[in-house]
Amino acid sequence: MRVAILGGTGSFGRALAGRLVALGDDDIVIGSRDAERAQQTAVELGGTRVTGATNEDAVAGADLVVLAVQADAALDTARAVAGPLGTTPLFSVASAIEFHKGVGMFPDPDALSLAERVQALVAAPVVAGLHSIAASNLETQRPDEDALVCGDDPQAKELALAFAGKLVGGRALDAGPLASARALEGLTAVIVNLNRRYKAHAGVRITGVDGAE
Ligand SMILES: NC(=O)c1ccc[n+]([C@@H]2O[C@H](COP(=O)([O-])OP(=O)(O)OC[C@H]3O[C@@H](n4cnc5c(N)ncnc54)[C@H](OP(=O)(O)O)[C@@H]3O)[C@@H](O)[C@H]2O)c1
Repeated sequence: MRVAILGGTGSFGRALAGRLVALGDDDIVIGSRDAERAQQTAVELGGTRVTGATNEDAVAGADLVVLAVQADAALDTARAVAGPLGTTPLFSVASAIEFHKGVGMFPDPDALSLAERVQALVAAPVVAGLHSIAASNLETQRPDEDALVCGDDPQAKELALAFAGKLVGGRALDAGPLASARALEGLTAVIVNLNRRYKAHAGVRITGVDGAE
């Protein structure tokens, strides 16, 4: 499969690309606003199956596109790639969390998730997930965590679940419709608060789900 990672030059995009390189199943295109930065990141990641391009060019020919830019750039980036993206599934990992000094991380106050707002901008089916998986946990090994994925399009969600399942030591679990991204994106704030409070590398494991692989 050909996977394009928009914002693949950042912490999460690099960690994701590194894990995919280690797995060796996929061709990876690092996307960036700057083609040279993308190509440089691809070289640093190594492997003959990693290339770099602008975000707009990266989506061409991809089977799955991961939206891994900074959260406040997610809507503009989705708008910019909407044309070349067409109907290729778009996997949003972005969470618009806010830091409140002296208090901690807050979830996005917007009633809709970023993923739902992205869906309003593109014809492609949007899925969302991996919000609870820290880049630092992903870059070293398959993290011993479950990956929660949501979306409205059944085929796109199946693709995203299979993709997410390769990345983690736990299971990729179907968390329901794209509206569940409101909770999943908010979970990022919870994870960051746990990490700050306990100097930890927290992740999520769901109990009581029988029959999930
Ligand atoms: N870090 C984590 O542990 C983690 C975990 C789960 C989910 N996420 C989500 O993953 C996404 C990326 O997180 P990150 O920590 O990797 O962020 P990051 O390193 O700060 O930024 C990622 C990339 O976003 C691009 N970018 C920044 N400003 C932009 C703009 N104005 N327009 C377009 N692109 C812009 C940059 O790429 P170029 O400059 O090369 O264009 C940058 O390398 C976020 O939405 C976050 O919520 C992060």
